[in-house]
Amino acid sequence: PVSIEYAPSKRSPTVVAHRGASGHAPENTLVALDTAHELGAEAVEVDVQRTRDGVLVLVHDTTLERTTDVEDVFPDRSPYNVGDFTMAEIRELDAGSWFDSSFEGEEVPTFAEALDRMEKLDLDLFLEVKSPELYPGVEKEIAAEFGGRDGWLKDGSSRGTPRLVVQSFDWESVRRSKELMPSVPHALLGRVPESRIPDFTWAQMINPNHTTIDSAYVERVHDAGLEIMPYTINERSRMDAVLKWRVDGFITDFPEIGLKAVAAQ
Ligand code: G3P
Ligand code: CA
Repeated sequence: PVSIEYAPSKRSPTVVAHRGASGHAPENTLVALDTAHELGAEAVEVDVQRTRDGVLVLVHDTTLERTTDVEDVFPDRSPYNVGDFTMAEIRELDAGSWFDSSFEGEEVPTFAEALDRMEKLDLDLFLEVKSPELYPGVEKEIAAEFGGRDGWLKDGSSRGTPRLVVQSFDWESVRRSKELMPSVPHALLGRVPESRIPDFTWAQMINPNHTTIDSAYVERVHDAGLEIMPYTINERSRMDAVLKWRVDGFITDFPEIGLKAVAAQ
């Protein structure tokens, strides 16, 4: 296994604000990053995809209708795939009103804009490469964006936490990304079967859905020298439970609840 400075037990568990603080603000927007920071989060998770004209953007679903007003703006463009729209078209969309009218006018940010904001706020990043099978070569484009910036390709932040973790449900994509950015910790999303964990020690983390694991699974991941940060935990009682299992962190829509749970340990 790759040895990492921020190994389990050397630091307190990381609370990662899911899609920004998506319990309080529209997911995957700049205001969701701002809100995460205001609530005390030191790390955020976001999802990246690619527009038709090759711009990396933050969107979770592979289509635009749940989190924008695309059906009103472009009524004839169903099925609204992210990859069928140019960045200029996506700029016309409102990505805030669906969540609450007070967020009207919030835009879908480019990946570069989101990184600028994270740099300004000193937020660590768990970057999910969403549906990479739809965007051939996306891992290279992501690596190029980080390569053009200071700090992201070192193996940790000044807090001793990972500055950047790249993760995906597509484990082949994670492997490609790891080869491009070997100094960056990478995570497999989903539950790697216990018998296969030893095959994945080139990665640094396994981040499964919290409903699919138990304390023995956490132990197996740690035994293999990997970390584990399950998603998406919004109930304080469940946070307390996984913290007892000694998870290395967890992903939540409500970072303020997560931070309280960690502080109470
Ligand atoms: O970070 C993991 C988590 O975000 C995966 O689930 O559907 O929210 O992208 P999803
Ligand atoms: Ca995600």
